[in-house]
Amino acid sequence: MEHENINALMDKTEQWILPELENVFTPAESEDITVKAALYSLFAGGKRLRPLMMHLTSRMFGLSDDIDADVKYFAATLEMLHTYSLIHDDLPGLDNDDLRRGKPTCHKAYGEGIAVLAGDLLLNKAMERLLSICESKPGYIYAASAMAENAGIKGMLGGQSIDIASEEKEISLELLTELQEKKTGAFIEAAVVTPYYLSKKMRRDEFASDKTANDLRKLASHIGLAFQIKDDILDVTSDSKVLGKSTGKDERDSKATFVTLLGLDGAKARLDEEILSIKAILSGFEAEGFDTEDYVTLTDFLVNRDR
Ligand code: IPE
Ligand code: IPE
Ligand code: MG
Ligand code: MG
Ligand code: MG
Repeated sequence: MEHENINALMDKTEQWILPELENVFTPAESEDITVKAALYSLFAGGKRLRPLMMHLTSRMFGLSDDIDADVKYFAATLEMLHTYSLIHDDLPGLDNDDLRRGKPTCHKAYGEGIAVLAGDLLLNKAMERLLSICESKPGYIYAASAMAENAGIKGMLGGQSIDIASEEKEISLELLTELQEKKTGAFIEAAVVTPYYLSKKMRRDEFASDKTANDLRKLASHIGLAFQIKDDILDVTSDSKVLGKSTGKDERDSKATFVTLLGLDGAKARLDEEILSIKAILSGFEAEGFDTEDYVTLTDFLVNRDR
């Protein structure tokens, strides 16, 4: 298989996902101000890393082209959930941020009320999409229900809840790890595992005991931690012009992060540990004959990225 560098993989992902995202709302719906606000954030210039990971899992397992359209459908749905989480994350009652993806945040551009609705709209639309694909393809029920769970109290929302409740507090490394695994790791799990779920069409209990599904979930958990630790590091070391969002805000808000808890060097050491775990799991997949090279490229990006 041909392999590309991270920029080429990101460009390819953008081209792959764009038509799917452009068709989420009809032209008539797009006249609505809340839809406009949602589209503003959806097309503001996100890196599309979760769709990229879905694409990489498909390639690693050589999944059949027959399910590519469905993988894309789930990838766009996840990108909608992720964008919803960011719109709400930036609201004054949560992180109170002005800049996102190099542009004014949704509430800065459209006002707080519309930004709340735009987040809700993306969440609601994502759920409509998950339910409606299961109507025509009942074999996808577990993939859909797992993605909904990844967005909820056991996943992103649960992590955000601990994040907000932990402001101004000293928390244990254990709770911080849980916070980050949920707020960021859960969507990354959805990205890494969903294509495999779609290809196997099994039930919840079958996936629970499936070795490959478990290995993929472990891989996702380490990628999620590595990704969020680097996010915490960039908040301290990066420049908002490069990062596309404001910096120094975790300290400003007395957030519990790997940097505020372990210091910059401690966070970097923990990032290195996560990277080693990712590489060990990828070696396992490689030994089973799967092509992991693109995931290795992504792993290097997790360490070296500046945005
Ligand atoms: C930002 O995620 C939020 C975190 C989970 C740290 P990304 O860095 O993937 O954001 P976009 O989609 O590229 O804007
Ligand atoms: C947000 O974490 C993760 C979400 C679930 C949205 P952060 O609050 O650290 O993300 P940024 O730094 O604002 O992108
Ligand atoms: Mg936050
Ligand atoms: Mg934030
Ligand atoms: Mg952050």
